[in-house]
Amino acid sequence: MDTQTDTQKDFGPADDHGDDFIRLDGVEKVFDVRKKTGFMRSERRQVRAVDSISFAVARGEMVGYIGPNGAGKSTTIKMLTGILTPSGGRLRVAGIDPSRERTRLAHRIGVVFGQRTTLWWDLPLIDSYRLMHRMYRIPDARYAENLDRCVELLELAELLDVPVRQLSLGQRMRGDIAAALLHDPEVLYLDEPTIGLDVISKAKVREFLRHLNAEQGTTVLLTTHDLTDIEQLCRRVMVIDHGRLMYDGPLTGLHEIGESERTLVVDLERELPPIEVESARVVKVEGPRQWLAFPAAQSAAPLVARIAAAYPLVDLSVREPDIEAVISRMYAEKATS
Ligand SMILES: Nc1ncnc2c1ncn2[C@@H]1O[C@H](COP(=O)(O)OP(=O)(O)OP(=O)(O)O)[C@@H](O)[C@H]1O
Ligand SMILES: [Mg+2]
Repeated sequence: MDTQTDTQKDFGPADDHGDDFIRLDGVEKVFDVRKKTGFMRSERRQVRAVDSISFAVARGEMVGYIGPNGAGKSTTIKMLTGILTPSGGRLRVAGIDPSRERTRLAHRIGVVFGQRTTLWWDLPLIDSYRLMHRMYRIPDARYAENLDRCVELLELAELLDVPVRQLSLGQRMRGDIAAALLHDPEVLYLDEPTIGLDVISKAKVREFLRHLNAEQGTTVLLTTHDLTDIEQLCRRVMVIDHGRLMYDGPLTGLHEIGESERTLVVDLERELPPIEVESARVVKVEGPRQWLAFPAAQSAAPLVARIAAAYPLVDLSVREPDIEAVISRMYAEKATS
């Protein structure tokens, strides 16, 4: 599908790739980190936060970008805004190389970092919006219209005169989302927009994003630890783990992967006939070591308890293909949140 040739590497019409609004080809980000290894000693180490990622997002799509802590999600978003420069690969948003033309791109994108506000902490909410009006040189009528719409849909009317520092987390998040949209961006990146919010605030944010995507046609890339966000908003989801893209497809496919099998590796005191235990089956025996397959969605603990009660158990471990590790961890996080 990729007909990119070396001669097309620089700017030009070939960069827009038709409908691909966002496009990454083998994008990498390597961080140099210094790690203290002793008194006055440190070691330089490289962290490959994003490892050769390729994907494309069409205009108007709403895509979930998920994965465990440290997977590389925020790093990807920062490269998509131009805050970080990729160490390798090729990245375009609306045909623009974000790190080279960050300011030009800023007029076309909106970004919300759930963990950090872009609002002026000590000023009333409305003052931040007025500053953005000027900063982005938003035409007056356009600004008024966008502000009205956001105030109505995000229920901000009562909050406009309140200093940001006095807002609750949910109120501030809604305020931040409005701030990201005043200049009519074509794409909105959201890095954990529902983090720490209660059920009602989460529902409000989701409802707003659904509306934004459906009515305004805004392209949305959403990072979250809350799978309900994805279930309710995104038909397409990408899973990243250790900087690598592990899955890109419909949410339903993700459920199927989550429903496949994990393997319990058991070391017994001695060689024994295949273990017989409920809800697992032996798939391999090698001396005192046995491999048992069991449903990925099922907890390993009761299985281990049953085996330990009936067999001389020495050691054990659970193995899962990477993608399943990601999914089961995500589901575990969901269950405990
Ligand atoms: N500025 C930096 N310098 C060095 N290492 C970094 C830097 N930013 C991120 N990293 C490392 O890159 C990896 C990916 O981090 P990133 O913040 O992208 O993860 P994430 O998927 O957003 O995780 P989380 O779910 O916790 O937000 C981590 O190992 C992190 O420690
Ligand atoms: Mg992050």
